[in-house]
Amino acid sequence: MKPQSVDQMSPIEARIEHARLSEELSKHDQYYYQEDAPVISDAQYDALRQRYEALEKKFPELVTDQSLTQKVGSTPSEKFAKIKHSAPMLSLGNVFTNEDVWDFVARVRRFLGFAQSHKICFTAEPKIDGLSCSLRYERGVLISAATRGDGFEGEDVTANIQTLKEIPRQLAGAAPEILEVRGEVYMTHEDFDRLNQRQQSLGKALFANPRNAAAGSLRQLDAKVTTTRPLRFFAYAWGVISKMPAATQAGVLDAFRAYGLPVNPLTRVCCSTEEMLEHFQIIESQRATLGYDIDGVVYKVDPIELQTRLGFVSRAPRWAVAHKFPAEQATTIIRDIEIQVGRTGALTPVARLAPVTVGGVIVSNATLHNEEEISRKDIRVGDTVIIQRAGDVIPQIIDVDLSKRPTTTKPFIFPHVCPRCGSAALREIDEKKGVTDVVRRCTGSLVCPAQAIERLKHFCSRNAFDIEGLGDKQIEYFYHEGLIETAADIFTLEERDRKSLTKIKNREGFGETSVRNLFQAINARRKIEINRFIYALGIRHIGETNARRLARHFIDLEALRQTAALAKADTPQRARIDIIDGVGPVVAEALHDFFAEPHNSRALDALLKEVNLEPMLAVATTSAVSGKTVVFTGALEKLTREEAKAQAERFGAKVAGSVSKKTDLLVAGPGAGSKLAAAQALGIEIISEDEWFKRTQQN
Ligand code: IVH
Repeated sequence: MKPQSVDQMSPIEARIEHARLSEELSKHDQYYYQEDAPVISDAQYDALRQRYEALEKKFPELVTDQSLTQKVGSTPSEKFAKIKHSAPMLSLGNVFTNEDVWDFVARVRRFLGFAQSHKICFTAEPKIDGLSCSLRYERGVLISAATRGDGFEGEDVTANIQTLKEIPRQLAGAAPEILEVRGEVYMTHEDFDRLNQRQQSLGKALFANPRNAAAGSLRQLDAKVTTTRPLRFFAYAWGVISKMPAATQAGVLDAFRAYGLPVNPLTRVCCSTEEMLEHFQIIESQRATLGYDIDGVVYKVDPIELQTRLGFVSRAPRWAVAHKFPAEQATTIIRDIEIQVGRTGALTPVARLAPVTVGGVIVSNATLHNEEEISRKDIRVGDTVIIQRAGDVIPQIIDVDLSKRPTTTKPFIFPHVCPRCGSAALREIDEKKGVTDVVRRCTGSLVCPAQAIERLKHFCSRNAFDIEGLGDKQIEYFYHEGLIETAADIFTLEERDRKSLTKIKNREGFGETSVRNLFQAINARRKIEINRFIYALGIRHIGETNARRLARHFIDLEALRQTAALAKADTPQRARIDIIDGVGPVVAEALHDFFAEPHNSRALDALLKEVNLEPMLAVATTSAVSGKTVVFTGALEKLTREEAKAQAERFGAKVAGSVSKKTDLLVAGPGAGSKLAAAQALGIEIISEDEWFKRTQQN
């Protein structure tokens, strides 16, 4: 049937047809933009759109804010695309006191093998309280921008970053061919106040602080919203650079400035610890009048050659540190003390407080650490307490104001059974040291719902499976509804839903789109790097660094699993774990406990049916020494032992303490003795420190 001509329609018919077309076009927009799966041809789509526009032209009263013709450009995609960082975006270690700064400088000297008198210069600059971002310029043109994400992969915010007036689309001068600029996106106090006033007048939710406002504005799916949000930027670091423009941190920042990038004017080079601390004071004294939030001062070793030598530990550079401003304090009342049960069964007491503002943030919880902490400070429900908040750290209780203690309070009695599952909660005894652990743990690992939920939260968390849409709230909901009990259940959810076993749609907060997005996010994670997978399992003592160590050593999950399952003390399997550098007996024991447990083994089998493991992303540069086992002996002249070891690991070599048939290389310095003789006897290649240095540089 031929559709009725627009010209012949009555206003009522037009309204009905307009609504029908609006729904149909939106549906096709969804297929096209969000699912990349159009179901009609472009010509058919255009015909529908023309008819829609013709209706609005003839009946202008149909044009409203909701009208499709009022939405400019393409519909924003539901999610940001991901960008892998070519060099990881790291975080910084924190220090709080002047003494800590002296220690930091001493540590740097020691690592480099410098004498006390050896002068090292550092840059000192404000630590901006915003969110970090990596901008990639090629031949001087801005081509992409990404948020930090998990440090290895961030969100593609190129369109949004292009709306920032301070960020040049084209660099001035002779910028390197490839330049990744890193820095902080932030919002000034003035702009923040204005934005919140606008939000209020529009009846929208207010932002808690400028950092949240900056993050919320940058992570807008529609870049047009970002245009209306006044964001700013300071450049302070870099990722990949095809040609270094200078040999020092300060020199590179000068070059950035010359390219037209904003660099913080309070950046100074300090060549003694006294000068660093003096500059800290200067910055702190200006904090209130800067017009934007800063939460400390960052010190970075100035010569880049030394930065390279110092390298990284885990996710933070050895050559930089954040000196945080003193924590902010406030007084409030403890309304209750609750016991939380963690992923590994640890019972953690948490104080529920009368809400109070500390440094611009509303605080209503504080950690009480453990039962000893409570009894030592005799903290009671009803007490007036002084709380302290430093940076993003969970607020802590510093002191109890005994003069305000009501006479009715009683000492807090810490439970000896798990408040969630009723299993006994015990404090383990370290047999070797004969000391009792400060942490009391629930022993019902396999039956405790709290532990199961926390394990699932960890599994879905950012540095593990990173499943968008499965946040803490959703996990709790799904668990309580009996839809997800183990990690494998996450991946069978869609299929069960299809068979109408779960019917997520129309449950709390779930519409058609959110259910589809959830399944999409889950399916996107069916492939995962092995190190992330190991970390996601939530094994005690296996953080990201240990997970990487295990992935690097075993390469294959089955190898790890079979070895660990049999790795009781004094077995050959245990010896295979013990040789991994950085993995001690506590970790080995935890691995054995986990993999030898039949329930875990079944859960792992079920999970491995759903996901495919990929090799670990190589962060370290490959070199002529990668994969080799090396032993250092004798005196090293250019490197300290610690440095040599760190360098070897960075280039993918393994460092062993003694010479064996498995040794590939012996690096021998003056004074080498028995190890040299052993290596000669075994026919192992022996090289000098210089030669070692050369080989680490060869790809
Ligand atoms: S340098 C490898 N400099 O602080 C060193 N970071 O706590 C990378 N930040 O993720 C960071 N101001 O978001 C550096 N002047 C500054 C900074 C700064 C703020 C942030 C950055 C980083 C976080 C670490």
